[in-house]
Amino acid sequence: MLTSLSRLALITALCFSTRSIAQEPVTISSQLEQQVIEWRRDLHQHPELSNREFRTSKVISEHLKSLGLDVQTGIAHTGVVGVLKGGQPGPIVALRADMDALPVVEQTDVPFKSTAISEYRGKEVGVMHACGHDLHMAMLMGAAQKLSSMKDEIQGTVVFIFQPAEEGAPKGEEGGAELMLKEGLFDTNRPEAVFGIHVGSALPVGHVAYREGPLMASSDRFEITVKGQQTHGSRPWGGVDPIVTAGQIIGNTQTIVSRRVDITKAPAVVSFGIVEGGVRNNIIPDEVYLEGTIRNFDMDNRAQIFEDLKSTAQMTAQASGAQAHVHIDEGYPVTINNPELTRKMIPTVERVAGKEKVHISPLITGAEDFSYYALEVPGLFVFLGVTPEGENPATAPSNHSPLFFADESALKVGTEIYVNWALDYANL
Ligand code: NI
Repeated sequence: MLTSLSRLALITALCFSTRSIAQEPVTISSQLEQQVIEWRRDLHQHPELSNREFRTSKVISEHLKSLGLDVQTGIAHTGVVGVLKGGQPGPIVALRADMDALPVVEQTDVPFKSTAISEYRGKEVGVMHACGHDLHMAMLMGAAQKLSSMKDEIQGTVVFIFQPAEEGAPKGEEGGAELMLKEGLFDTNRPEAVFGIHVGSALPVGHVAYREGPLMASSDRFEITVKGQQTHGSRPWGGVDPIVTAGQIIGNTQTIVSRRVDITKAPAVVSFGIVEGGVRNNIIPDEVYLEGTIRNFDMDNRAQIFEDLKSTAQMTAQASGAQAHVHIDEGYPVTINNPELTRKMIPTVERVAGKEKVHISPLITGAEDFSYYALEVPGLFVFLGVTPEGENPATAPSNHSPLFFADESALKVGTEIYVNWALDYANL
């Protein structure tokens, strides 16, 4: 039996909470699901490269305008931002989808297969949504439609971010999340929280993986130019050999991660991908060029590795009478899921996807520019599986493969996660 006090509390709760999070999650109709599938297929058939998402931008902005949202276009070149003001006061939350495709020739046999051609680094290339950003956009367009239809019930404001160039802007251009922020994305309507979903082949369709704290690595490119002095291969003492020095630099830098990084904080990777130098067997060249990548899950480790890489290369070169010029091109930061926000909002994902389908993700050494948003405001980024039932996610063609295939039943799950994040956040 309820005491009068708890009865009062119950009545108060019922009267003053428009939507309790204990309620069933909001679902989308099969009609809207079909529409989301159609958007996805259209976007899939018309993929565009980073900073060139012109048609994509038009499709999205027309849809958001048709819903009556306040729409801003042309942010960070082709980005689109839609703002939905709910009927009731409350917080601002942001939902993000990325828009760009990759220079990949599609090899799937889906009827809406891409045959698009574009230009990439001066070459003609095929273009494909091989990373699933077509699904992200379609899900967010669907979420915008569903949430618009519930406008009066919404507490607060929902910002829909359609972001170009997640895969990296073309050489010499700026782009992506960093440029959107630079152009003032969070200046007006600064969200309390930002949410993102990435589809992936590593999980069965409809399954979700998340991780509290660091989820995806930072990604930084480095260049080392080793300058020696040219001489005949038969008389190495006549010059300074940059080839042997480069070899020593490659060897010595292996101790940065194995001996100097505190691996109890987080793992890290330093890899070389390019070694270039010399033209002929018996000529010791003037110069050797090295290039590689650094991955981290801890921003302090990252700064330390930058310093260690510079000093190891420079001192090793100095010991041989050579010089090493090190340049680090900082890429995306570590993608960090705010622990408090993660604990608060994963139950929403569990209610939508089913608790048994929500898993803890391992650390992912790939990088994501969602990280920039999550450094500004609390962020939550999750992976949504798209590998069909009966297929092994471990061997299914991965994201970026010309054979990347997404089971479209994931679209309903992803759309509903976006919708319920936006609705639940205000109630928690
Ligand atoms: Ni991607």
